Amino acid sequence: MATFQTLPGFREFYPEDLARRNHIFRLWRQTAGNFGFAEYDAPVLEPLELYKAKSGDEIETQLFNFTDKGGREVALRPEMTPTVCRLVGAKASALKRPIKWFSIAEFFRYERMQKGRGRCFHQFNADIFGEPGPEAEIELIALLVQCLGAFGLTAEDFYVRLSDRNLWFYYLEALGLDEARSRGVLGAIDKYEKYGDEAFKGYTEAFGPLAPELMAKILEFLQVKSLDALEHTLASLDGEKIKTRLADWKKLLGALDAMGLTRFVAVDLGVVRGLAYYTGFVFEAFDRKGELRALAGGGRYDDLVQKLGGPALPAVGFAIGDMTFALLLEQRGLMPTLVQAPDVYCVIGGEAERLAAFGDIHALRAAGFRVDYPMKEVAFGKQFKAAAESGAKLALIYGDDELAKGVVKIRDLTTREESEVPRNHVAAHVRDFFSAG
Ligand code: HAM
Repeated sequence: MATFQTLPGFREFYPEDLARRNHIFRLWRQTAGNFGFAEYDAPVLEPLELYKAKSGDEIETQLFNFTDKGGREVALRPEMTPTVCRLVGAKASALKRPIKWFSIAEFFRYERMQKGRGRCFHQFNADIFGEPGPEAEIELIALLVQCLGAFGLTAEDFYVRLSDRNLWFYYLEALGLDEARSRGVLGAIDKYEKYGDEAFKGYTEAFGPLAPELMAKILEFLQVKSLDALEHTLASLDGEKIKTRLADWKKLLGALDAMGLTRFVAVDLGVVRGLAYYTGFVFEAFDRKGELRALAGGGRYDDLVQKLGGPALPAVGFAIGDMTFALLLEQRGLMPTLVQAPDVYCVIGGEAERLAAFGDIHALRAAGFRVDYPMKEVAFGKQFKAAAESGAKLALIYGDDELAKGVVKIRDLTTREESEVPRNHVAAHVRDFFSAG
């Protein structure tokens, strides 16, 4: 009989795989806590409508959607952003500001599978609501860097590319493009790194070819790689909007510098983000070698809460995906070998000894120790082998001699030293052993 397989692009987590995933989630959760973010959760199945025309064309074509038994059009969530906007929007006036929230959850996109991309994956999402100025970006970019740095990754391993959709719009407006054309250009820029000039095909079809001098100006902006270059390129285009925006840039980069994070951040106008809702600063994290797909992405989306029925509420956020991230940790040798070893392994003679052992086993577990024992009666030799293989530090030996004397033999599995302890002192002895380190 053929064995059932997972659906293509879906993942199973055997205990060792789950231990690695949990390790990642644990550090993300801890880091978010260090930054004062509160955790939330939400449903995995949502009304299809939530993603229609909000997340963007690409995500819409990748939805896992169906009609439920009540005739509702539903979709497995492809991302958290619309959901978290609904949550915050519904209680915005009651929530304490600043609203700094995070979640760790699973998402589904019907994508073409490739290295670091699946049809189900997890993301760590962090978002700040109610803060219109770059203070929110400062906090989030610092959090993003630390969520990667907490694992031992350095500025040699990854960096954050920082860009700005506002400046792009101001620049294109100054070049004489209206909003629809500017959006068309940004759509092309989003794909430019991958497809080169081909990326402008859609634009040309919609609006006709770009004049060569316009194209040259756009490519010039794309080359900007520092704040100085940005100021230089924009110098000839005066206007209050541009001046104010450059002041935001200085504030953001100045704060990140004060945190010692400059080496992690690169000004790079090639990042514009494909999702439909971004409105200002946008950023993406990549491995330095450029071998992997994006580790994380995010930006400002000041209109989405209101578009989804909530009040006008500025917002910024990002998400780190677990797949590329785990690949990078493995490549850099930063994924620890995580073994789930018991503290104590019990070696048990026959049925009578087993009943005696059960009392101690349960009491030790209730006291917080990890305790294991063989489920079935097996020879002592095999049990000692199992004790050694389990990685336990101590073996408790319940033989008939020990039972007759009212003691338990305790063996230090590292030094092989043995001692006999009265039955009613076992828990205290184990506690002393582990507190002594
Ligand atoms: P995104 O760029 O679509 O942004 O996804 C963020 C990260 O999730 C990516 O950089 C990648 O690591 C991971 N990811 C996305 N799709 C897949 C996939 N098919 N397989 C594996 N990993 C994947 C968002 O989702 C925005 N909602 C982020 C955000 C939060 N913006 C504001 N707040």
